[in-house]
Amino acid sequence: MKVDVILGLQWGDEGKGKIVDVLTPRYDIVARFQGGPNAGHTIEFKKKKFVLHTIPSGIFYPEKTNLVGNGVILDPFIFRNEILNLADHGIDAPSNLVISKRAHLIMPTHRLLDAANESIRGATKIGSTLKGIGPAYTDKIARNGLRVGDILNNEFKASYLLRRDNHLKLIRFMGFDLDSFMIDKLPFPEYEEKWLDAAEYMGNLKLIDAEYFIHRSLAEGRRILAEGAQGTMLDVDFGSYPYVTSSSTSIGGVCTGLGVNPGNIGEVIGVFKAYCTRVGSGPFPTEQSGEAGERMRDLGHEYGSTTGRPRRCGWLDMVSLNYAIMVNGVTRLFMMKTDVLDDFERLRVGTGYISGKKKTDQVPYDITREDLEIIYEDLPGWNTSLNALRRKGDMPDALKDYVDFIEKRTKVPVIGLSYGPDREETLFF
Ligand code: GDP
Ligand code: IMO
Ligand code: MG
Repeated sequence: MKVDVILGLQWGDEGKGKIVDVLTPRYDIVARFQGGPNAGHTIEFKKKKFVLHTIPSGIFYPEKTNLVGNGVILDPFIFRNEILNLADHGIDAPSNLVISKRAHLIMPTHRLLDAANESIRGATKIGSTLKGIGPAYTDKIARNGLRVGDILNNEFKASYLLRRDNHLKLIRFMGFDLDSFMIDKLPFPEYEEKWLDAAEYMGNLKLIDAEYFIHRSLAEGRRILAEGAQGTMLDVDFGSYPYVTSSSTSIGGVCTGLGVNPGNIGEVIGVFKAYCTRVGSGPFPTEQSGEAGERMRDLGHEYGSTTGRPRRCGWLDMVSLNYAIMVNGVTRLFMMKTDVLDDFERLRVGTGYISGKKKTDQVPYDITREDLEIIYEDLPGWNTSLNALRRKGDMPDALKDYVDFIEKRTKVPVIGLSYGPDREETLFF
């Protein structure tokens, strides 16, 4: 048995949550392998809408196991809220949720440090979700982190306080006054108390040696789907550095974040929007700040699932899409949010860059440079509603041509498309 993988190929919010939910019936285990509550994965069915931040998107199927892998970072406060929110809708998350003891914890002071770091960066700020992602991963790599398994240790509170005090010294040294920060609308001491309480709550969940669990499951023939967070262009190595997140959002993150090896990886399903969005700062070559971008934002309801910020919108970028396919070894593509382009008479696709006066079909190392120009190719829009789409034969010709164009330029089969946020609004070819 192999681990199939869902990865975002753009700047996040491609619709990973929706497609993981749609595919979950084909698997036994859904596993998140990186990122933290910076993610917002939306799932809609039966007129209900859920946004998950840390919990894997297979949680709506009670017979499936959902695993939070070691590569994920968890904020107990946010995590408990997620569980309680699901409970309000009759979903008993703890019963089919297991968490790696090796996963790291996001401390309240990580969130303060995130805010302080962003404030110091001024105009070059990353546009972080301010969930403490950068500082928590920094502590992990610097070997200062607290792990989920530590919650079960009698020394947990003392270890926490030691690290918290060091963070506070750093924050004061950076010139910030602790009293000026609020976290989730609470002053620090109040938030900290709730955080510690939530950490204790987490100690009662199923904390496991997840790498053994995964390998045992594979040996027993159980099918596993790994769920990525963010997108390849936000990868700490391959994304538009420094405007990235602090984890490996690309294929390597599956191995380091679950304890599986390259030989365990099966299909790599790359998910992309029929156009492109980005939330936060940093380069976005095909961004349309004018009318086209605004229409995409309106029709696609492009506002951040985690922060509510308006997402920047633009045309499909074939250069970065092919780069993401190459880095990840994508074997299958799934196109999301196709319906958002229903009303466009002409579609544009960025198929080349001009960087430093030279034409290129590669993502340059210095993608942050401002003089990057885009070569576009135009295609006719289908200019009709996809509401009635049920089978491949229903697809308007211009949509078939759009899909063919993408398959030809990527050399990867598109196995289906999504044409609305609901589970049912999905077409497999
Ligand atoms: P994720 O982070 O990759 O899981 O994506 P998000 O949930 O942050 O953002 C995707 C948004 O698009 C959510 O609001 C989804 O409900 C919505 N969505 C997903 N697929 C489609 C689709 O095919 N059409 C439309 N109109 N919306 C979609
Ligand atoms: P999902 O899983 C879109 C962006 C932030 C910011 C940068 C760094 O829902 O696709 P961080 O909080 O990690 O320090 O922010 O990355 N970002 C995302 N953008 N979708 C996400 O997750 C994101 N997670 C982080 O906006 O630009
Ligand atoms: Mg999202």
